[in-house]
Amino acid sequence: LKKVTTLPKAQYGGRHAVTMLPGGGIGPELMSYVKEVFKYGGVPVDFEIIQIDPTSESNEDLEYAITSIRRNGVGIKGNIETRSLDTGVISRNVAIRNQLDLFVNVVHCKSYPGVTGQHKNVDIVIVRQNTEGEYAMLEHESTPGVVESMKVITTQNSERVARYAFEYARKNNRKKVTTVHKANIMKLSDGLFLETSRNVAKDYPEIQHNDMIIDNCCMQLVSNPHQFEVMIMPNLYGAIVSNVICGLIGGAGLLSGRNFGDYYAVFEPGTRNTGTAIAGKNIANPIAMLNASIDMLYYLGLKSHADVITLAINKTLNEDLVHTPDLKGTASSLDVVQTIIKHVQNLSVNCKKK
Ligand code: NAI
Repeated sequence: LKKVTTLPKAQYGGRHAVTMLPGGGIGPELMSYVKEVFKYGGVPVDFEIIQIDPTSESNEDLEYAITSIRRNGVGIKGNIETRSLDTGVISRNVAIRNQLDLFVNVVHCKSYPGVTGQHKNVDIVIVRQNTEGEYAMLEHESTPGVVESMKVITTQNSERVARYAFEYARKNNRKKVTTVHKANIMKLSDGLFLETSRNVAKDYPEIQHNDMIIDNCCMQLVSNPHQFEVMIMPNLYGAIVSNVICGLIGGAGLLSGRNFGDYYAVFEPGTRNTGTAIAGKNIANPIAMLNASIDMLYYLGLKSHADVITLAINKTLNEDLVHTPDLKGTASSLDVVQTIIKHVQNLSVNCKKK
């Protein structure tokens, strides 16, 4: 089993190079906010911006984006829309994750005290298999009217994800890991996923391990989310569960998601929506993408810059209560960004004085 190792990140003259894929819908405007906040925070990051056209028949821009992430080691992305049902049109999002072997997706679902959700004080870490399962994109019509779709689960990837979750729990002092599955029906595929996580759990005797069927898990999440600390799950359940929990604590505009492989990392909003219907209206919540940029700064080792922007967001959401309409507020995207920038400037001055 390979260990997650960190390669040196691309740096030029003390500045980090990061690939930026704005994606569709609200992606480009959210990225412009990230660049603006970084400018006022004096963040030493330069972006290599690549726009991927999901309707193009050639995969040239996709390949260029992947090469760029390989070179820089790190990327930040908005979601790239895949509306076509043509099997020849692949999801660029899935292709990026697969080609870079970003085997795990981590969404830390933590409530903001100033944001009203269905539940308060939720603090759950979702650890999702990110490259196989139902997303194998292996489908065919065996005879007209009969379609078969392959769900692929491997011991190697199940073990990498389980190991990541238990290591995360150990390092972050979390006491319980829950494996989510449907092994009662998918006895071989989800059965392997469950059995592998049970085996990995034996190496972490101080951490309680339980498992839950996905159906019950959704019910438990909406009625009592506080019973969960760290959750491991195959790919599709991860997509659903992260959206459920984000919905419970404030929606698609708040939380970020981290994609890791052994060599590369890509940061993005946790629910991976494009928000096409609200693009260009100055109402999209900028926080999820800003949180993705903060995750990226911690990953790059730029802790003090990340801490300042985190604090600025907390003040904006929890003290000033400057909220966009998705959080039942009346502020525009720019109001939120300008309030964050004001705090970033004050906090940066105070840091320099100290
Ligand atoms: P959507 O983009 O319509 O978003 C769902 C809801 O969340 C909408 O009401 C939207 O306004 C809201 N929302 C999203 N971000 C927001 C923000 N920052 N601030 C305020 N509100 C926000 O979601 P849908 O229809 O699920 O996905 C759109 C496209 O994204 C799909 O065509 C699909 O191609 C792609 N997609 C790809 C995924 C992947 O990683 N493979 C996963 C999910 C979607």
